[in-house]
Parts: sequence; structure tokens; C-alpha cells
Amino acid sequence: MLADKRILLIIGGGIAAYKALDLIRRLQDQGATVTPVLTRGGEEFVTPLSVSALAGTAVHRDLFDLTTEAEMGHIQLSRSADLVVVAPATADLMAKMAQGLANDLASTLLLATDTPVLVAPAMNVRMWEHPATQRNIETLKADGVSFVGPDEGRMACGEFGPGRLAEVEDIIAAISAQLSDGPLQGKRILVTSGPTHEPIDPVRYIANRSSGAQGAAMARALRDLGAEVVFITGPATVRPPEGVQVVAVETAQQMSEAVEAALPVAAGVFAAAVSDWRVLNASDRKLKKSKDGLPVMEFAENPDILKRVSRMATGRPPLVVGFAAETNDVVEHATAKRLRKGCDWIVANDVSPATGIMGGSENAVVLISEEGAETWPRMGKDDVARQLAERMAVALAQ
Ligand code: CTP
Repeated sequence: MLADKRILLIIGGGIAAYKALDLIRRLQDQGATVTPVLTRGGEEFVTPLSVSALAGTAVHRDLFDLTTEAEMGHIQLSRSADLVVVAPATADLMAKMAQGLANDLASTLLLATDTPVLVAPAMNVRMWEHPATQRNIETLKADGVSFVGPDEGRMACGEFGPGRLAEVEDIIAAISAQLSDGPLQGKRILVTSGPTHEPIDPVRYIANRSSGAQGAAMARALRDLGAEVVFITGPATVRPPEGVQVVAVETAQQMSEAVEAALPVAAGVFAAAVSDWRVLNASDRKLKKSKDGLPVMEFAENPDILKRVSRMATGRPPLVVGFAAETNDVVEHATAKRLRKGCDWIVANDVSPATGIMGGSENAVVLISEEGAETWPRMGKDDVARQLAERMAVALAQ
């Protein structure tokens, strides 16, 4: 999968540095060449000898190492890869990157490189959540740096929360997505996914049963074909895929704003189960039981995001794909829905309980387009996503 790809791997300081050794081995298993760079902090956790033994090449450590400079200058080193990966990336290293500092080999390479950079952060949860770190991350994202992780869980320091280095297989997936030369490379595609939560008061909300599985599968399939995926997700139960840009929202209004902010895109896939209504008189205090009777909720209609995007006068994505879950007269309802919303394709499925599709791993869809209705055989949800992504690649190539 990564045959002949060249990866410059910068290993920062932190207990997670040992996982970089596994990363080197797994990247090599996939045919990649890894050139390792070890920071001073990194050396405290893994030895240069173990890194170079695994990588099968010298490890670069010093900005002013005359031998290395004579063989390959640091500018050349920074550009000798298809991708620069920083794993683990400390808060300090990210701060340097965001500020453009170049006072050691790693930060100099990161400032001098003209190749894409993928960062896998790992740090204590407080350091991760600190506004300074979050500010630096926003800056780096705006500079085009991609991120994988961090994961949430128990940390070496005994605390719990986000800050753990992403799993090695997730880092590999993110690397593969970045280096893919699939047919969707260079295409930015947005995917909405999951349910929305519409607040009733600070502790209660209206939700639906969407798990976000189909949206996540779509994002993964598009990523695997090389697309740059913006994944706008409500509070779903399935994890967002790695190697995509995740925008987490709660309400339909927030989802609508996030979609607008993500434009322009080559295509939009609207797999979210958006709540049609929100509570207009949502309380900012918890509602209490009262002798005066039951609370009365007033509803307002939420923006129809799919319809809005499909009917944009300027800047409409060239391909807009909606989903329709129906329980009867699937083709008839979905055909009418396509026209009502104004999207190009509708992926319709029958979610009546007898099909076992809702909550199951399989799906049987009908693809409705201008050309009519095309019934696909029953298959796994991942396969539906893969086939749909391939169809999108063909349509976008025309
Ligand atoms: N959708 C959306 N914004 C909304 C509601 C729906 O973007 N406020 C999108 C969904 O993501 C999906 C498609 O519209 O791609 C169809 O959703 P569905 O709930 O089936 O459509 P409705 O317009 O709510 O139709 P129905 O009357 O069948 O509920």
C-alpha cells in the first residue's frame, strides 16, 4: 500500500515515543522507507541505536552534525520525503511549529520542508486542553498541517482524557490517506454524519437513533480513494475515521454552519440524520416538576441543510448526494425527495424492521439519479460506501 513512499519520521519526547518503533516496522512492512529524526526529548525515551537499527538507516539528531550535513544538508533532508510525520508530537514541538521557530533539527526541518506534514500529538490531558495548545493546533491546521489523534483514555501519568498517541494502525491509515494516489486525490469532499441533539434544557435534548455508521463508512471510503474529507458529525456512537478532518457539532444549526464553513467542496455527502425541529423555547435552566402543570414545548423548523446546499445559486458543489431512509414505497418516496431537495443523487434504503437493516451491518440500497432508480444487491455497509465512493469518483472525473 505504501510501496516506494518515503517518510521522514520526527520522533518527539514523551513516553509514547516507544510506539514510534512499532510505527517504523509497520511502515516498512507496507513497503515505505523511513528516515528517522530523533529530538533531544525523544532520545530520553528511545535510544538512537534502536531507532536506526529498526529503520535500517542512520538516525538524524543534530542540526550542526558535520558528518550528516556533509552527506545530506538539513534543507535537502526536509524535502527528501513524500510526507513528514511527527509522532509523538509534544506540546512544545507543536508550539515551535506554530511559531515558526527553528532552533533544533526537528523544528528546522519542519520549517524548511515543502512536503505535507502529519502530526500525531501525545501529551498530558491538561497540556492538550490548554488554550495555548488548542490555539497552536488551530494555527497549524490553518497552515495545512494534518492531525491524527490524540486518543482518549488512561495516560501514563495516571490522568484520564484526550492526549494519548493515536493507535499505530490509525497513524498508518492517516498516512495512507495522505499518500493515496486514488482517483479522488486533490478533491475536497464533505460528509455529514450521525444524529443531532436539540436541547430542551441544559441537561435534556431531542435525539434520534442514528449511530453514524453509514456516514463514517462513506468518509473512510472517500478517504481511501484519496479525497480530502471534511467529516461534520453530530454526537454519533461510532468513532470518526482517522485521516479525515473532523468537525464535531451538536445541533442542526451548528451542522448547517459547519457545512457552510467547509465550502467550497467538489462533492457533499449528506448522511446525517438531522432533526427536523428544534425547541424554540429551550430553557437555559433545568426544567423542574411543577404543580402548575407540564412544560409546553414550542418547535421551530431546522434548516434543511441538504436542500440549502443543493439549491445554492453560486458555489453549489458539482455533486450533491443525499440519503433517504424510508419504510414503504421506497423508490417513489425517494424519487420525490430527490426532486424536492434538488440534490443529484439519493441513496435510498428500506429501514422497515423486517429488513433488519436499521442497526445491522448490511444494507440494500437504491441509487436514485436523473437516470432513474438502480437497485443494488444487499451487501455490507462498508461495501455500499466503497461502491458509492467509486461511483462518485467516476462522476467527478467527467
Ligand atoms: N437532511 C438535511 N437537513 C435536514 C433534514 C435532512 O441535510 N434538516 C438531509 C439528510 O442528511 C438526508 C436527507 O436530507 O440526506 C433526507 O433526510 P430525511 O430526514 O429523510 O428527509 P426529510 O426532508 O426529513 O423527509 P421526511 O419527510 O421523509 O422526513
